[in-house]
Amino acid sequence: MDMQGINKRLKAARVALDRFIDKIIDEHLGNPKVADAEDADMVDDMLAILEDSPAGKGGEGGDLQGDLKLTRDNIKAIIMDVMFGGTETVASAIEWAMSELKRNPEGLKRVQQELTDLVGLDRKVRESDLDKLPYFKVMINVWAIGRDKAAWKDPETFRPSRFGPDGECAGVDFRGNNFELLPFGSGRRSCPGLQLGMYALELAMAQLMHCFDWSLPDGMKPSELDMGDSFGLQAPRAFRLVAVPTPRLNCPLF
Ligand code: HEM
Repeated sequence: MDMQGINKRLKAARVALDRFIDKIIDEHLGNPKVADAEDADMVDDMLAILEDSPAGKGGEGGDLQGDLKLTRDNIKAIIMDVMFGGTETVASAIEWAMSELKRNPEGLKRVQQELTDLVGLDRKVRESDLDKLPYFKVMINVWAIGRDKAAWKDPETFRPSRFGPDGECAGVDFRGNNFELLPFGSGRRSCPGLQLGMYALELAMAQLMHCFDWSLPDGMKPSELDMGDSFGLQAPRAFRLVAVPTPRLNCPLF
């Protein structure tokens, strides 16, 4: 019985996804890269240890990896892991960080001032700017603060200054060494996409803060934002954030 047609849709989605990943693998097989080539990507690296590929059979990649061989299904599963692990997580983190900043107008103003001082209003943010934005980094990196009363003072308050040099949590790290704050897990199964995830989150947030001012629709006050979460792979917001952008740069955005 499949009264609402969910199983049918699930199977169709599974087949479509399978075809999409097959296409990625076939395109890479049709355009093989030399091991360690600068333009080789993660799929090229995995194909070098594919069971039946020339590279996998005693090719350089195979030799380097010793006895490790992957089947095509293994590679498909890893591509799927990275696709799913790396999209919703970052999107949800951006949505939470935007919501927290909207509820903290002073913090948002300070982030935008820092961006204006460093970048100016005549261009967008570049990757190389990110390391020169200390206040922005503290604001964004700690969005995922834990909520355990035993571990945190005012756990429900978004107060990034607690992680600043004079804050009571100075030095607490989010990479898996401090167990009260584990947005990426810890140990051998912790998130392999931490670096990419933080980079994507920081660049997207810096761009959003720098290129636009944000207001809430229909005169809604920040204090009226529902900050509830819902059950899911990464505790997404229970209600999507709706915010209205107004451009703040002097240059065209596209
Ligand atoms: C802000 C962004 C992200 C957050 C908060 C996040 C968080 C997590 C967490 C909590 C885990 C489970 C760790 C554990 O079990 O201890 C995990 C696992 C994983 N993440 Fe992420 N992640 C993010 C971005 C990414 C990105 C960008 C990728 C890939 C490009 C990725 C790929 C994965 C994979 C493949 C696993 C499974 C690892 C394993 O089971 O061995 N994640 N992530």
